[in-house]
Amino acid sequence: MEELERMRGKAEDAERKVERLSEQIMKALASTIDAKDKYTNGHSFRVAEYAEEMLRRSGGSVKEQEEVYYMGLLHDIGKIGIPDEIIRKTSGLTEKEYTLIKSHPVIGANILKNISEIPGLAVGARWHHEKYDGTGYPDGLKGEEIPVMARIIAVADAYDAMASRRSYRDVLPQKVVREELKNGKGKQFDPYYADIMIEMIDDDKDYQMREV
Ligand SMILES: [Fe+2]
Repeated sequence: MEELERMRGKAEDAERKVERLSEQIMKALASTIDAKDKYTNGHSFRVAEYAEEMLRRSGGSVKEQEEVYYMGLLHDIGKIGIPDEIIRKTSGLTEKEYTLIKSHPVIGANILKNISEIPGLAVGARWHHEKYDGTGYPDGLKGEEIPVMARIIAVADAYDAMASRRSYRDVLPQKVVREELKNGKGKQFDPYYADIMIEMIDDDKDYQMREV
């Protein structure tokens, strides 16, 4: 009996070790993405945290929260395939450059598709730029055609883009960000999750959810 206990303990240790290692590798990958551009510093981590909190508030299981966190961490991994000088360009993108930038979701999904243990990773990468009204890319999916986790990440991603600095502007005021989310309901954003994000904003009295 004691032997059995000991073996079980060992198996559990090994499992925890693999889990920790997986998490560390995903975080290292996220840092690699964020390091490409000083204006995306920490972006992947914040998107992951906001997405996790949105899912928690909407009653998602701990396992789902964990999955959306990892999806958030790696949603922009396809940017690795885009030349730095294009990613860093702040304005005056040519048509060709813009088309190239818009290929990052597909590149990302291809990079992640072989991580079969977490199939959601490729889902988040591929569809985080879809819009609820069907005007997004790469597939122009509409409403509930867009996987729910990708809809959540889309809201978190757009929120953080506004709540972080750009070369041409500072972090947007919280009131402005809130208004943008409200206006984007049913257009860019799933209205249900936009409302959850707005609830998070209203709870965030000192505007902590922002780039510092
Ligand atoms: Fe993206």
